[in-house]
Amino acid sequence: SKPLTIAIAGLGTVGVGVIRLLETNRDLIAARAGRAITVTAVSARDRSKDRGVDIAPFAWEDDMTALAGRGDVDVVVELVGGADGPALALSRAALDAGKGLVTANKAMVAHHGLALAEAAETARAPLKFEAAVAGGIPVVKGLREGTSANALTRVYGILNGTCNYILSQMEASGADFDEVLAEAQALGYAEADPTFDIEGIDAAHKLAILAAIGFGARIDFDAVDIVGITGVRAADIAQADTLGFVIRLIAEADIADGHLLQRVRPCLVAKGHPLAPVDGPTNAVVAEGNFSGRLLFQGAGAGDGPTASAVVADLIDIARAQGGPGEFGAPFAMPAAQLQPFTPADP
Ligand code: NAP
Ligand code: HSE
Repeated sequence: SKPLTIAIAGLGTVGVGVIRLLETNRDLIAARAGRAITVTAVSARDRSKDRGVDIAPFAWEDDMTALAGRGDVDVVVELVGGADGPALALSRAALDAGKGLVTANKAMVAHHGLALAEAAETARAPLKFEAAVAGGIPVVKGLREGTSANALTRVYGILNGTCNYILSQMEASGADFDEVLAEAQALGYAEADPTFDIEGIDAAHKLAILAAIGFGARIDFDAVDIVGITGVRAADIAQADTLGFVIRLIAEADIADGHLLQRVRPCLVAKGHPLAPVDGPTNAVVAEGNFSGRLLFQGAGAGDGPTASAVVADLIDIARAQGGPGEFGAPFAMPAAQLQPFTPADP
């Protein structure tokens, strides 16, 4: 049957990871998707940059928005980053043209997810963003599908690989904050502007997405109370250790007095808690459902391979099911039109 054709915008850590994964696992992907997934066009800033993969077989667009208008593209894969700017222009253009959209861009989804979901539903085009939250962990799917029968009471965890890498390296070796941040950047974990990581904003983007999915509420990034890790000193980590704790950046959404509360802040985590041994760029999400009980999702939260794994899983879903009932629109817990501002219970 006809291949699913894709265009990739952004050929950095994740974009190159996706090209490598599609090449390496080509046969198993075709078998699982029921058809081949083929890259037809790409775009980034600098056409001449050596990316370690051969992009010569793909058409190049200097203006990435043009990817959305190409007749040989079924799905646009947005791996550029930034809440607004070219990523948002391309994403809107893709959905308006009736193309599928797969993105790893949590900043864009946290700020514009509802508008994109509405555009997807209007165009009956798939919108997927598994890679936007917790890298390789299928937690968007896990919350949307795996806990859909539950009223969730709480979702919390470690959602930023860079911060977790910094904190656990400082803990293990007493390494200097700036030195470990530079390592995280070199390993491809950090955002283009690492302030988003260390100030807790990236974790807040992801929390806002998870809360919307888990609680069936509108995404409300502005409601997240955010404290990052820049105030955490080596002495704090050493002191926590002597008291039987580690320090982790915890993102948490729960309901208190009928209100949805979302917060990101460094926390003392007792060494016996399941989140305490989570180290390096690993992420972990705990979801508590009224019938499922406590669920723990854990795995690599950043980096080229894990993130590409989530992006390509979304593509396989689209390739398998495009045209099937219920496969259009966004992976929120319910259609965008039904998402409401969170309504407090009666006081
Ligand atoms: P990256 O390595 O910085 O790559 C960004 C790519 O976008 C580059 O190819 C760059 O082009 C291109 N680009 C940036 N601004 C552009 C512009 N104005 N016009 C045209 N092209 C532009 O970023 P990344 O780490 O792959 O991340 C991509 C997305 O995935 C982001 O939304 C990020 O938050 C998300 N994400 C990343 C990870 C991770 O572990 N890295 C994990 C999950 C999600 P040039 O190469 O030509 O400069
Ligand atoms: N900068 C992000 C992190 C990438 O460190 O978790 C994965 O979303």
